[in-house]
Amino acid sequence: MNEFNKRMERESIKRFGDRRVVFGDGRKNAEIMLIGEAPGSEEEKQGRPFVGKAGKNLDEFLEIVGLDRDSLYISNVCKLRPFKLSPKTGKPINRAPDKEELDFFVPLLHEEIKIVSPKLIVTLGNFALQYVLMDKSVKIGECHGQLTEHDEMKIFPLYHPASVIYDRAKRPIYLEDLHKLREIL
Ligand code: URA
Repeated sequence: MNEFNKRMERESIKRFGDRRVVFGDGRKNAEIMLIGEAPGSEEEKQGRPFVGKAGKNLDEFLEIVGLDRDSLYISNVCKLRPFKLSPKTGKPINRAPDKEELDFFVPLLHEEIKIVSPKLIVTLGNFALQYVLMDKSVKIGECHGQLTEHDEMKIFPLYHPASVIYDRAKRPIYLEDLHKLREIL
């Protein structure tokens, strides 16, 4: 993993300059790999995925399923914080990863999955699901909480923990999915 991260960082600097690469984090050869979309400002600051608001929510849910963060490997499709400058404040605000970032990071994500070689991938949100499956037509609303197999990978799609912050109605559905996940484990 070290070699992989060093190469990714070198190539990222060549392509995107000195934006901080937020590497995947956690146990090498973890049995469960969680994949989100992209780091936000707190993740960029600390250099670790899911340590901001969404991460707090994720931790709370992991506790519900009895999963210890240290036993997992957590990563993102895009390893740089995608940002633009707010026209109102002039400060950086998040945006979705763009084509250039995705062309660069998606093949690396698939390499990373092979290196970690988890027994189960848990995708967090629509974005991660689509780029793990390499299928933009899949919709998280239709397949959350259902174990799927693809290219010999077992995938369990969950809603993104941030979406549960913004949409409280999703919380009971999310909890139900987490209980299904616990049964699978
Ligand atoms: N933080 C991450 O690391 N990834 C996300 O997808 C959201 C917040």
